[in-house]
Amino acid sequence: MTGRSVVTIERHIIEEERRFPQATGAFSDILYDIALAAKLISAQVRRAGLGDILGQTGTTNVHGEQVKKLDEFAHDVIFRAMDHGGHLCMMASEEEEEIIQIPPQFETGNYVLLYDPLDGSSNIDANIPVGTIFSIHRKISSAERGSVEDVLQPGFKQVAAAYVLYGSSTMLVYTTGRGTHGFTLDPSIGEFVLSHPQMRIPSPGKTIYSINEGNARHWSEGQRRLVEHLRGFDGELSEPYSARYVGSMVADVHRTLLYGGIFMYPADSLNPSGKLRLLYEAAPMAMLVTQAGGRATDGERDILDIEPESLHQRVPVYLGSDASIETVRRFVSEGARSPVTR
Ligand code: AHG
Ligand code: MN
Ligand code: MN
Repeated sequence: MTGRSVVTIERHIIEEERRFPQATGAFSDILYDIALAAKLISAQVRRAGLGDILGQTGTTNVHGEQVKKLDEFAHDVIFRAMDHGGHLCMMASEEEEEIIQIPPQFETGNYVLLYDPLDGSSNIDANIPVGTIFSIHRKISSAERGSVEDVLQPGFKQVAAAYVLYGSSTMLVYTTGRGTHGFTLDPSIGEFVLSHPQMRIPSPGKTIYSINEGNARHWSEGQRRLVEHLRGFDGELSEPYSARYVGSMVADVHRTLLYGGIFMYPADSLNPSGKLRLLYEAAPMAMLVTQAGGRATDGERDILDIEPESLHQRVPVYLGSDASIETVRRFVSEGARSPVTR
């Protein structure tokens, strides 16, 4: 027999928890429930193209039930997987305007869950990878069933973050602040198996930049120069970066973690705060990338340091290897009107 031992996500979570003798198991329960929700959504994403064939077009299925869009389905699955465990005091979702209360018949606990149920949803009809993003905070208020301050916490206070990528295989990547670890769903046994322990973003790595260049006419001068620099136009780089852009943040960030380089969704003149949401997208991804040895900035501040002001607040995002974030600072940060020559 060859090969290394098989570690399921359950086993990994238990072993992580054993390092903290005072742990109650609550946090592990939340992570298990997240893994379960990920499997349920994965099963549905895998059937996404079959709607027409199985007579489920339009808004009614063969049973006369409303067919939900996949992002609403994912939102509901996560809510129902997480509402009754007794460990959460509140939730918030990109798909829901207001904070989500735990139904009164269920007990509450000391954690808050924020999530983007289906990331990259515009890609789903084209069979392009999509994802789910999770962020977990500890409750800080004294209100038994939580309050707004529990939800509006800066990223550095996250106790865990995770994403699920529904790609050519389904992967769950999570961190509890002790490195970033990737698990691949083995569909034959229905288990997430450790496939990418202690992920480290290559630095400098294969140099790839990832951005929607269709927005270029709205970019700032600094942003335009940054991309010109990455493309080799200013002659500073011995080799220019390659370009890749899926348009699903989870997929673009996952590739950045594995291959290196930089993912950007900057501010522009039409969207002065960019597009991505601080609480559901930027902060959890910033924790995962930082735990893998990379960095995340809005151009000025570390994303993990930003104090949220509202639930659905947007923020410009640059995340990637240390070296590429340094380059961002050189071109985009306030005062960097013209790039400093090396
Ligand atoms: P969501 O599907 O959750 O609304 O997120 C979409 C986001 C993100 O996944 C991606 O990075 C970005 O939108 C792509 O936006 P553009 O189509 O403007 O490039
Ligand atoms: Mn999203
Ligand atoms: Mn979404």
